[in-house]
Amino acid sequence: MNLTNTNPPSAKYLKDYTKPAFSIYDIYLEFDLKATQTQVHATSKVKRNFSDNKPILGALVLDGIDLDLLSINIDGQAFDDFQLLNEQLIINIDRDEFELCIVTEISPATNSSLEGLYLSGGAYCTQCEAEGFRKITYYQDRPDVLATFTVKITADKKYPYLLSNGNKIEQGELEDGRHYTVWQDPFKKPAYLFALVAGDFDVLKDSYKTMSGREVELALFVDKGNLNKASHALTSLKKSMKWDEDTFGLEYDLDIYMIVAVDFFNMGAMENKGLNVFNSKCVLANQATATDSDYHMIESIIGHEYFHNWTGNRVTCRDWFQLSLKEGLTVFRDQEFSSDLGSRAINRIAAVKAMRTHQFAEDAGPMAHPIRPEQVIEMNNFYTVTVYNKGAEVIRMMHTLLGKENFRKGMDLYFERHDGQAVTCDDFVNAMMQASSIDLTQFKHWYSQSGTPKLVVKEKFDKTSGVYQLEINQVHTATADQDKKHNLHIPFSIELLDQDGKVLQLTYEGNVICKVLNVTQGKQVFSFDNIKTKPTPILLEDFSAPCQLDFNYSDEQLCHIVRHASSDFSRWDAQQMLLIKNIKAAVKNDNIDLPKNITELISDILLDNTIDLELAAQLIKLPSYDVIAAEYEEVPINSIIEAIDSFEQQIAQTLNTVLFDVYNKLNENSVNECENLSTEVVGKRALKNACLHYLAKQNEICMVEALNAQLEMINMTDSLAALSSAVHANHELSQSMLIAFESKWEKDALVMDKWFGLQAMQDKPDIVAHLQSLYSHSHFDYANPNRVRALIGSFTHFNIKQFHNENGSGYKLLTDLLIKLNDINPQNASRMITPLMSWQKYNVKRQKLIKQQLERLADIEDLSSDLYEKVSKALN
Ligand code: TRP
Ligand code: ZN
Repeated sequence: MNLTNTNPPSAKYLKDYTKPAFSIYDIYLEFDLKATQTQVHATSKVKRNFSDNKPILGALVLDGIDLDLLSINIDGQAFDDFQLLNEQLIINIDRDEFELCIVTEISPATNSSLEGLYLSGGAYCTQCEAEGFRKITYYQDRPDVLATFTVKITADKKYPYLLSNGNKIEQGELEDGRHYTVWQDPFKKPAYLFALVAGDFDVLKDSYKTMSGREVELALFVDKGNLNKASHALTSLKKSMKWDEDTFGLEYDLDIYMIVAVDFFNMGAMENKGLNVFNSKCVLANQATATDSDYHMIESIIGHEYFHNWTGNRVTCRDWFQLSLKEGLTVFRDQEFSSDLGSRAINRIAAVKAMRTHQFAEDAGPMAHPIRPEQVIEMNNFYTVTVYNKGAEVIRMMHTLLGKENFRKGMDLYFERHDGQAVTCDDFVNAMMQASSIDLTQFKHWYSQSGTPKLVVKEKFDKTSGVYQLEINQVHTATADQDKKHNLHIPFSIELLDQDGKVLQLTYEGNVICKVLNVTQGKQVFSFDNIKTKPTPILLEDFSAPCQLDFNYSDEQLCHIVRHASSDFSRWDAQQMLLIKNIKAAVKNDNIDLPKNITELISDILLDNTIDLELAAQLIKLPSYDVIAAEYEEVPINSIIEAIDSFEQQIAQTLNTVLFDVYNKLNENSVNECENLSTEVVGKRALKNACLHYLAKQNEICMVEALNAQLEMINMTDSLAALSSAVHANHELSQSMLIAFESKWEKDALVMDKWFGLQAMQDKPDIVAHLQSLYSHSHFDYANPNRVRALIGSFTHFNIKQFHNENGSGYKLLTDLLIKLNDINPQNASRMITPLMSWQKYNVKRQKLIKQQLERLADIEDLSSDLYEKVSKALN
């Protein structure tokens, strides 16, 4: 291993935060856009900072990477008292206030990192979060430096739209076929919120009248020819604007809100002030090309970026360790938005699934970190499910502890105190604490402690006294980053069901007890009286805290909850526990038969005329491989896959008639409902396709017609469900269906991603060779993260059996790709490495194979800081 030989990238620590000696408070940026020689003139007003009324001594430290420095001027004079380091420019100056003008040159056309200024397709665009602005010019690239930006963009007229943040204040023509536009953003912002876009687009325009009566212009810029996929995003934007006014009293603050869709993008989207940039896959949709879940995803991401305008932009982060200040809070807000507009239970189910599979795994692996990390090598590595999703759960717990009204008061106080500032997570919790008078001192440990707490619960019922007791223990195990753990303040929500499934009033000695128990100690006992027969407890209801639950439920208790709980989430949660329990038993005993009570339960759900159809679809699906794998220290990969497959076969067989009847009934009107996106029809499609997934496994003749008919549907949900059911069942039709789908969609890159995904999920022994051949497919492009994730991400995450093939070919395929991506796009490489990180969870043979590949990575020259951080942690 070579990791320590060559000048390894070093870590930064939260505890080392200091205010800079200077701050840039105003910048005038001029871009002369040319593919390989873009000149950037940056004229900054700089002022010395004070701490305790004393000037902070020191130089002006500017960040910069891959820049060609052409000149430096201070107050109009050429300046040469500076040091040019690898990634910094140090200006030695003893003035307290001055104007700094720096000219640099950059090459957008050769920038494949998708960070800084780059070309995406035919358009120039930028991505500055977290530390990409330093690839544009030398600057204080840190979120606690807030400046007003004025931006002049000059470009060839083949780029008709020249966009940046704020309001357009000037535009004009130049002699040489070029033109320019000047933008001014009246709000001070950190550099990571800067954006520039130049290109030729189709534009969908609309407007929104805010609650105080201001007209806001809305504009969505898409690639030429894509207007027929733009309306859903714009509708979602208007819904978001209204929701934030209604829910938090927050109004949009500029006269224009622009969204640009680009094909080359590392993440989902970016909240740049007044000029969001989106991955085209998170914007573009029509019913022929996007599934119902794509529609839902787009609505939530549009909401997410819009909500950042207040939680992120108006109030931003002091430093990047505080990332969850804006991300956890904004995810919480987008989850609430989706829940208010659609089904709360279905949204909660999705959020909890993400936590239990991805976040719990991250906490258990070598990259474990608290939602406010203390130590970072590459900031891009910390846009994680922990910071985002667990961060949102931490906000949700405060919402639960304070109640809706106090939470709103806390938000109001937060904005009143901190609008226009760069603040910390502590500032947020303090606002919540003071607005509600609820003590959150112990609660704050959630910000500094990593790991998933385990709640071990025991029950005791005394029939004669009618007293029921729950003993709750919190167990914290050491994580890769942290040995010492505190007991946490955990809101533990419960319900007790009687034998008829009715919810019991919680009382003890004459007092009513709130269903949210405050667990604060290592071991606590809660008592309830007036109970006649032994109740069935619903524990950690609604996933009231991001913890694992350890309670010895019987199958009967779980069935009772599934059948009777009033909360749809609780029904699903109990169903999951029941299935997990039985799949684990099958893994242990080599495929025991699926118990009859489970098939009966599924049958009853299918025949229930009153149930929400989307919920029914969730209830009849077996838990995914990830969910089961999370239960083991050493994951018995193949046994889990076999057990799930065997259960699916048994359900398909035993319930064949019911499944087929329900399928046919729900499918009756589908041709006329292709364009219908109502909750009701979305539910119908969800349940119908959940049935189809089982039916395809039967490989019966009658399914051939159904699969082919559905594939032809002008509705992507139905069409893709047919194809995916066939592929997952290894149905004899799957090859011909894949070919038909390709020839139908070969012109649509986003739809072809779905095809790449299914290609990669095929369970066949020559899959690695097949994937390699797809690298030469005309649509594939190593430089486009969507393509790479569609093909190889689908393989490593969803083709578990073949990826973990003990011949090692899956691990090698991924590593070959990572080596390539390390040069092209380190950020994407670093996100793709996840499946190799948890090598300790596999058998010795696989451990050896994975470690070999990690060593290969460690040995490559010019290993990026992104991969270095992960590889070194994985091997440690
Ligand atoms: N702030 C963005 C969001 O959550 C995340 C993001 C977009 C991002 N692009 C990025 C983070 C590039 C790091 C690098 O909405
Ligand atoms: Zn965000």
